[in-house]
Amino acid sequence: MAKKLIIGNWKMNPQSVAEARKIVTAIAAKVEQFKKVSVVIAPPALYLESLSKLKKITLAAQNLFWEESGAYTGEHSGAMLAKSGAKYVIVGHSERRAMGETSNMANKKIKAALKAGLKPILCIGESSRDEKGEYHTVIKTELTASLAGLKKANLKNCIIAYEPIWAIGKNATREATPAESLEMSIFIKKVLSDIFGADAAKSVQLLYGGSVNTKNAEAFLADGGVDGVLVGRESLNPLKFIQIIYSAEHLS
Ligand code: PGA
Repeated sequence: MAKKLIIGNWKMNPQSVAEARKIVTAIAAKVEQFKKVSVVIAPPALYLESLSKLKKITLAAQNLFWEESGAYTGEHSGAMLAKSGAKYVIVGHSERRAMGETSNMANKKIKAALKAGLKPILCIGESSRDEKGEYHTVIKTELTASLAGLKKANLKNCIIAYEPIWAIGKNATREATPAESLEMSIFIKKVLSDIFGADAAKSVQLLYGGSVNTKNAEAFLADGGVDGVLVGRESLNPLKFIQIIYSAEHLS
């Protein structure tokens, strides 16, 4: 069985680099013994360099800009993030889409990430579900636009996180079920296969994200049709995050 990928998205937390170092150190102390899991933390970009010096955990950035340098106030290039220690980068998270990020922008960011040697983690997800299943169209449109122009060979370096917006964060209307994750995983693979062919589609790692916690992580990992999970809130609590990682390590 391939290693499960457990990614923690810290968003705009914690409030100091000292606290960030403490959480990483606590997680790494346990994770070192685990063999069947790859763990990645996405801290605020400002903390990447300091956390990478700890040499304890694989890091992701939460965003990047598609240009390599120039007059883009407030932005960071893929190369800058890679030099600061990131190996992955989240692209198109729903909280960024809510601030205006489009799939077209996500597409440019994915290409820039790959060029900089970063593995993009593309987030896709519908804001609500309807009885007719129109949300499938949202997913297909987001996927098609975000991955436009990529080569088949790029897909093995891409991760796709299905994150239904209605299941994310403390305002979630409800948790998604592993069956819903499985159904969308199959749908996503089908869309990828239609665009890039079956082999390339198989090479993409799929994640589920949205209110993943110590109680439901195992079920998503076992029955959700995914290669891992993207964890928000519970990744800031070392004990809870370690428990989620533990459930991935001990899947039968
Ligand atoms: P949550 O966030 O686990 O706090 O719902 C997930 C995400 O936004 O990636």
